[in-house]
Amino acid sequence: MNSFDAVEQRSLELAQAVLQAPGDYRVLTGERPTGLLHLGHFFGSIVERIRLQRAGVDAFLVLADYQVIADRDSMPRVREYVYSAVVDYLAAGMDPDQTTIFTHSSVPALNQLLLPFLSLVTEAELHRNPTVKSELAASGRALSGLLLTYPVHQAADILFCKGNLIPVGKDNLPHIEMTRVIARRFNERYGRVFPEPEALLTSTPEVPGLDGRKMSKSYGNAIALGMSADETAQVIRRTPTDSERRISFDPESRPGVSALLSTSSLCTGKTPEEIAESIGDAGSGALKKLTTDAVNGFLAGHRERRAELAKDPSFIGDVLRRGNERANQVAVQTLDEVRTAMGTRYE
Ligand code: TRP
Repeated sequence: MNSFDAVEQRSLELAQAVLQAPGDYRVLTGERPTGLLHLGHFFGSIVERIRLQRAGVDAFLVLADYQVIADRDSMPRVREYVYSAVVDYLAAGMDPDQTTIFTHSSVPALNQLLLPFLSLVTEAELHRNPTVKSELAASGRALSGLLLTYPVHQAADILFCKGNLIPVGKDNLPHIEMTRVIARRFNERYGRVFPEPEALLTSTPEVPGLDGRKMSKSYGNAIALGMSADETAQVIRRTPTDSERRISFDPESRPGVSALLSTSSLCTGKTPEEIAESIGDAGSGALKKLTTDAVNGFLAGHRERRAELAKDPSFIGDVLRRGNERANQVAVQTLDEVRTAMGTRYE
């Protein structure tokens, strides 16, 4: 069994274990506020978070604003994206009393953990991280010190609240591994403070964007949760398809058609093949119409709730204020333990 299979196997066990003993787990999840949340986030991570919440697990959710500048110059519209993400979480059913939603930059004690943690890893280990390498390549820029070290920062995100169950996609597995190494080395050198967290691989399939590539705001192929029904129709209309009348599910040679089928499938619960069959020879116009109706039908309730919530930005501000307060309390407590363990408390 290779290490990915092992993580996958363990994730299945963890998914069971957490239902049986939710009190044994603290979940930490994170998101970079680089754009509006889209259907990919909904099926990829939001659904999983709500599922864990329903199981009764105590959770933290970091809007990782400092990670935004790991591979870009500045954070345009970051405040808008943070507010919009909170609106989407609440509209999807997240309970801010059970899930502490907070922003990186508002929790100084979390960020201070980065300093001792950096001493626990070598430059060679940082350079070996495959995800950092691919993000560097995708950014087309010089490697910033923050990009090189952000997996260590991510370890601080996780360990400040002693998170032990981390729902992630497979691209984030190297960061969880680095977090485990950091926790282990810290505990060996200074005495046990941290758990060694485990990854919970998110079970939903990667959601294809409308051109068949991964759904991503940077590819412009995403359906944002907050789009209007008309905007949704427009994006779907722009999806490149082909002129073959007979609709079939074939992601390799018909990426656009297949992405539309996958999207309708996620929103209706039918298989892509069943949907293709139901359209038959009616062509991609009919497929686009069906997909638009499926997405708009699926998101109607969510959009109504989010419009309602968006009317009251002061409420969203309160949710963040309370989340940041709680995160600060927990971070200060952990930093105290770290300083005690390291012998750097002088007062
Ligand atoms: N790196 C994660 C991503 O790219 C976001 C993130 C930041 C995160 N901090 C985290 C994920 C802590 C899990 C745990 O999506």
